[in-house]
Formats: sequence, C-alpha cells, structure tokens
Amino acid sequence: MSKVTQIGHPLILHKLTLIRDKNTGSKEFRELVEEVAMLMAYEVTRDLDLEEVEIETPICKAKCRMLAGKKVAIVPILRAGLGMVDGMLSMIPAAKVGHIGLYRDEETFKPVEYFCKLPQDIGERDIIVTDPMLATGGSAVDAITSLKAKGAKYIRLMCLIAAPEGIKAVEMAHPDVDIYVAEIDEKLNEKGYIVPGLGDAGDRLFGTK
Ligand code: PRP
Ligand code: URA
Repeated sequence: MSKVTQIGHPLILHKLTLIRDKNTGSKEFRELVEEVAMLMAYEVTRDLDLEEVEIETPICKAKCRMLAGKKVAIVPILRAGLGMVDGMLSMIPAAKVGHIGLYRDEETFKPVEYFCKLPQDIGERDIIVTDPMLATGGSAVDAITSLKAKGAKYIRLMCLIAAPEGIKAVEMAHPDVDIYVAEIDEKLNEKGYIVPGLGDAGDRLFGTK
C-alpha cells in the first residue's frame, strides 16, 4: 500500500496558509508554491541512496557521502505542477524534467491527456510527480498510469493539498506509489474542488480566469 507522508513543518504550513488566501495574487502565489516545493523536497528525497566517497578537505582526507544510484526525474502534471519544478530543481539541480499534460473535463471531472515528453531513460530514474492539487485523484492516477506505460518504475507523488478521495484513488490504482502532501483537507465539493483548498491552482499560478 502507498505510504502517505504529511509534511506538517511550521514553515510549510505558514506558507500554505498564504497560498490558500484568496487575496494572495499570482506573483506571490507562484513564489510561495516554489518555496513550499523546495521545503518539501527535503522530506520527499529522504530515502534516496547515498554512497561513500573519499575527498580531501583542507585538513585531511575524509570519507563522506554523496547521492548514489538512480538519478531523479521531476515530472510536473501540466499546468499547475510546473509551479513546483523550480523549487525542486533548486534542491536537485541535476534532475531531468519530463512533462505530462492533463486537464480535467469540467463536466465529467475526468482527465484528458494532451502532452507527454519524458527523459529517454525514465525507467531507470527515481520519478517525482508534482501537482499542487490531488482532488478526485483522476489526473494523478492517469498520469502515473501513462508514466508506467512508458517504462517508469520508481514513482512518488508530491502534492501541496490532497482530498481524502484523491489519496484513496491513488492508493487503489497505484499502491506502489508513495504520496507526499503538505496538508490533507476535509472533502471535495460538488464541482470536484478541494474544500477548503486554494481554488483553481492553474488559474491562480498563471493569472488566467
Ligand atoms: C488541476 C490540478 C490537478 C487536477 C486535480 O488541474 O492541477 O492536475 O486539477 O484534480 P483531480 O485530482 O480531480 O484530477 P486542471 O485539470 O485544472 O488543469 P490545469 O492545471 O491546466 O489548470
Ligand atoms: N484542481 C484545482 O486546481 N483545485 C481543486 O480544488 C481541485 C482540482
């Protein structure tokens, strides 16, 4: 079963409250989403493998540790997942970035894929899928299914806010995928929006609507 990690660090929760506030404009919203992604990167990458390397400090030779093994790919779900990429890249600058484009049909809430471009060696990489919102879970479930169909094996999902329904949907469809979230909200409303949530993440990030 998926491991669900709620990253309730005070700095993250403080910034998330500002993100949720309807009076926060696009510029500040973008900056805050990037900052929260950067802070969450610390926990999302906690179990990456390390290897021992020998280096020389100005004082002596020393055996130290560096990241080892599989390389990382960050895969934002377009559009809103893009807002988390720069924050992640500032912590993992060598990561490659794939893109998967999905939008939710406003009547059925079902995701429709319109774009997918991934690093060639996606199957060998530790993949971090980013999307600020996990609502019904339809977009994340379909994005992960699509990634797996293209060879992806090691996938984790990172969201700012999740509804219980979305977590359940990912757990059911992809029990091998661990989920990292800053906060789990109460429920979905009749339009499939997270309550209390933050509204439409893509529109708030990019100033559309
Ligand atoms: C939003 C959000 C997720 C999806 C979550 O994207 O960024 O991808 O909805 O909802 P779900 O869990 O019910 O699938 P949206 O479809 O609004 O597209 P956009 O990012 O291009 O605005
Ligand atoms: N997508 C969003 O951007 N916000 C929600 O609350 C649900 C889906």
